[in-house]
Amino acid sequence: MRSIQSLFNSKTLATVICTSTFIALASVAAQAQPTVEVLHYWTSGGEAKAAAALKKDFEAHGGKWIDSPVAGGGGSAAMTVLRSRVLSGDAPTAVQLKSPAIMEWADQGALANLDDVAQKEKWDDILPKRLSTLMKYDGHYVAVPVNIHRTDMIWANPDVLAKAGTSEVPSNWDDFNKLAKTLQAQGVIPLALGGQPWQEAILFENVVLGIGGTEFYQKALIDLDEDALKSDTMKKVFDQMRVLRGFVDADFSGRDWNLATAMVMNGKAAMQVMGDWAKGEFMAAGKVPGKDFLCSASPSNHGYLFNTDSFAMFHVDGADKVEGQNLLASLILGQKFQETFNLLKGSIPARLGVPMDKFDTCALQSEKDMQASQESDGFLPSVGVDMALPGNLTGAIVDTVTAHFNSEMSSQQAIDMLIQSLDLAKE
Ligand code: BGC
Repeated sequence: MRSIQSLFNSKTLATVICTSTFIALASVAAQAQPTVEVLHYWTSGGEAKAAAALKKDFEAHGGKWIDSPVAGGGGSAAMTVLRSRVLSGDAPTAVQLKSPAIMEWADQGALANLDDVAQKEKWDDILPKRLSTLMKYDGHYVAVPVNIHRTDMIWANPDVLAKAGTSEVPSNWDDFNKLAKTLQAQGVIPLALGGQPWQEAILFENVVLGIGGTEFYQKALIDLDEDALKSDTMKKVFDQMRVLRGFVDADFSGRDWNLATAMVMNGKAAMQVMGDWAKGEFMAAGKVPGKDFLCSASPSNHGYLFNTDSFAMFHVDGADKVEGQNLLASLILGQKFQETFNLLKGSIPARLGVPMDKFDTCALQSEKDMQASQESDGFLPSVGVDMALPGNLTGAIVDTVTAHFNSEMSSQQAIDMLIQSLDLAKE
């Protein structure tokens, strides 16, 4: 009988070894489950529902989702966590980021290239140019957009307004002030605000747009033009911020934005100036637009302050993670997913051509205003939620707004501080 060894001459042995190695590798590859660890800050009721829709879609396509939420509206806590994770060599696979931050991370070589998915799925054709530009670094896709949010919005409780004799949200800041005084006399808090710097900055940018108009917004907050920053218009803006300070309740400091939305929902307060993620809260609570709450663009001349949430993929090792990044990027721009997600989030789709028949009047109005704003150069990035400027410049503006809002500082002092802080940030 031939020994077992003799059954294999060296050629057969090599074939057996190669074949088994191949089988082993193939089964590892087959086992490599697309995996993502997602760092995001969608933790309020409406936000969590929207995030869950993304997780569900990813899992339904065979992916493993590791959730890394960092509570804190506006995302500054999440950005701190991100920085420390990257510094310690432990970058998450996918991160909720805004365009200026995307560029900063790409500049440091931290982001993965998504061109393969982008080409395969024709992102250049399915995304508006204004958005695709924000997702590219040096001509290459490094992030994928989920939505288009809008920050120049007022949310109101119609029953509370009715008691003050109106069914409409004011269309200029003077009327806003008059209505607020009536509401105050009735014992209602006119303005629901969370005293956190980014929320005060949203209020500020709304006032800049309402008092100065789109051209002034562009000059002052995007171009940082010194004449605009020093102008009488800017003084009027800070004057109005001082007036608004008188319309918030004593406990506003540090309040989360969604708790401010709840104050409008339950009639404790009349109005909130906030991005349309507030609609996600109303919807999550089963409220009906036009009946239980009103949505209205804040005063402006056809402006639209946009905010786009995106996911950037960080460089990570491992086939499972890279596959996870590609799968996530591809699902995010799926037509059905864009509909499901944005219905929950309060935003409108980032992708072109998504049917809007299931969207409510607030979303339809947002889409219509967005089109109109693009024709009149009024489609402008929000400063308050980090869409417009690099972090240090946004910080200079936000810090000044907060310092002014929470002190007795005069409008002129605020302007001086603004110019000085911006100069320092530019150095
Ligand atoms: C994000 C929104 C989020 C909001 C409040 C903004 O910066 O773009 O998606 O809902 O912050 O957390």
